[in-house]
Amino acid sequence: MIEIAPSILAANVLNLGQDIQMVLDAGAAALHVDIMDAHFVPNLTFGPHLVQALRRAFPTALLDVHLMMTNPEEYIEAFAQAGADELTIHVEIEADVGRVLADIRALGVKPGLSLRPGTSASALDRYLGDIHQVLVMSVEPGFGGQKIQLEQLSKLSHVRNQGFEGVRSVDGGIVQENAHLAVSAGATRLVMGSGIYGSDNPAQVIDACRKLLP
Ligand code: DX5
Ligand code: ZN
Repeated sequence: MIEIAPSILAANVLNLGQDIQMVLDAGAAALHVDIMDAHFVPNLTFGPHLVQALRRAFPTALLDVHLMMTNPEEYIEAFAQAGADELTIHVEIEADVGRVLADIRALGVKPGLSLRPGTSASALDRYLGDIHQVLVMSVEPGFGGQKIQLEQLSKLSHVRNQGFEGVRSVDGGIVQENAHLAVSAGATRLVMGSGIYGSDNPAQVIDACRKLLP
């Protein structure tokens, strides 16, 4: 089954608990939590406090936390303590990426690596043995609801061809109508924000996308 990770950025924050319970009941494999710092991306979202609240409210949900931050190394401990299961950093940060990935693992959290549309997939190659997840950005990070950049999907094939057997995720502009393209390119997990929360029938979207075949 394809894993579906609804992005809570697209949920109604004043109705967050119900919006999350709904996607979990519909078969979501993970909750994707977008952390934006107003530096790495021109937007601000959530922090460890929300992750802690999610952990308490949904003890068994897989919390997939995407750190769109210039200095994630200063926050990984706080997110680990808050209860994140997976912490994904960007390969473009200034810090030593291999070191931050190792530090995440040492905190008992699964490390992931993401890349902006302008970054070559080969930038990931040297880290593929050290990570649990590759998160291919198919839009410029910073905002939900953008149109997918289809040419980014070949990065999924690249990491698959490198023999990477971890989670291959794609993030940005995925909707039911294009989800099959991501899956056939090699995605094993689809992050979907507006494609789920903006649809008339989120449960049906999750169910259909989970059943896509490579
Ligand atoms: C974008 C975020 C995405 C976003 C996806 O910077 O990383 O996770 O929430 O939203 P949609 O699916 O609406 O493009
Ligand atoms: Zn994201």
